[in-house]
Amino acid sequence: MIKLTRAPKPLKGEVYVPGDKSISHRSVMFAALAEGSSQITGFLEGADCLSTIDCFRKMGVLIEHSDRPLNGVPTITVHGQGLHGLKEPTSPLYTGNSGTTTRLMAGILAAQKFNSEITGDESIEKRPMGRIMRPLSDMGAIVTSVKGNDCCPLRIEGGHTLHGIVYHNSVASAQVKSCILLAGLYAQGDTVVHEPALSRNHTEIMLRYFGADVHNDATRYGPSAAVLHPGMPLYGRSINVPGDISSAAYFIAAALMVPGSEVLIHNVGINSTRAGFLAAVRQMGADITLLNENNDMEPRADILVRYSELHSPNNDTFELGGKIIPTMIDEIPIFAVLAAISNCKTIIKDAAELKVKESNRIDTIVENLTAMGADVTATDDGMIINGGKPLHGAIIDSHKDHRIAMSFAIASLVASSETRIKDEECVDISYPTFFRDFRSLINN
Ligand code: S3P
Repeated sequence: MIKLTRAPKPLKGEVYVPGDKSISHRSVMFAALAEGSSQITGFLEGADCLSTIDCFRKMGVLIEHSDRPLNGVPTITVHGQGLHGLKEPTSPLYTGNSGTTTRLMAGILAAQKFNSEITGDESIEKRPMGRIMRPLSDMGAIVTSVKGNDCCPLRIEGGHTLHGIVYHNSVASAQVKSCILLAGLYAQGDTVVHEPALSRNHTEIMLRYFGADVHNDATRYGPSAAVLHPGMPLYGRSINVPGDISSAAYFIAAALMVPGSEVLIHNVGINSTRAGFLAAVRQMGADITLLNENNDMEPRADILVRYSELHSPNNDTFELGGKIIPTMIDEIPIFAVLAAISNCKTIIKDAAELKVKESNRIDTIVENLTAMGADVTATDDGMIINGGKPLHGAIIDSHKDHRIAMSFAIASLVASSETRIKDEECVDISYPTFFRDFRSLINN
């Protein structure tokens, strides 16, 4: 259990956060299915992305970490096997805590000639897989839940010819969309995934970068449809993964909360389908400047943040809901911490998806904010936070959820007494060096 105390002085300094988790996973997966080799720099060496590497190695893909990096930049080289070159794994594929590995890989496996089985840790075995099993079955795949509860372990029967579908998903989920599109690479006919709001579109951007024919269709199917036309091979590419905005969000929040702070975070991905957190805190008066914006496969920028007193846009209740939610779904825990110390009432709605993340995040946010003295109530699809109550230290149960551990580490910076966080090592999932970077900013 780690012990943390209030920030002794303003946070000053610069930080590079690790590579984007979603983009790192996809880099390895798409490179494995490509012809020729791909070089990946900026790859996130967190437990989730290492699970993806392990799984593809078990399917015969040679993936090398450079010991002596060229020009000092650590590089991962993936020797692609082409769309039809994966080998049958000799044991079940273990995805650890990673929903992205599990769901995206299921789409690929559903179209292979061989049988396979996927499973993960205790949390993965509770997460809903019916949401991918249904569309995959519509495409002609045979995917069964071994325990019959629509959860992992999943058994995937190979050797079935898939056909394209038009799928209307009832929730905006990039994992579901990506699973279907990846199966669609092997299907006969086009695959279309329609969502109520656009979820992160890294799969569309990156598959196109690797050579696939895929786009977001704003006319025929509405702005939140992805359309894939199969038949194009993928080719090896060089990929430079930007810093993860989900990881940057913790230090953005820290700088906004601690008076006098000024922090510069370098090279962060700012894809608009991921950047809702920036928009939301700006609406609450956050002083954030984007510098050195550029686009290298995905848009990125340096983010300069200065301490700001957060308030509701019209000194009224701040309602966070609708299409912005999927663009900041992983940042809701840290956003809730900010809302608790802001000078307003915040209603977070349309966020029922929080219940099926690494933990039930509506419950784990409310439990821990309440333990620190905040006024917060859970609702069916979010929570209501009456901001402005001073926070005190508490024992935080992270429920082994990395985003809960990091959000409440940041909350400790404004708590009046010591905060202890249980199972803080779960930050390894997405940000293994989190506490080192956290301390360097505090002690600068
Ligand atoms: C992810 C999509 C999101 C997100 C997860 C990563 C991805 O999940 O919460 O951390 O890389 O596609 P959903 O698709 O379930 O919303």
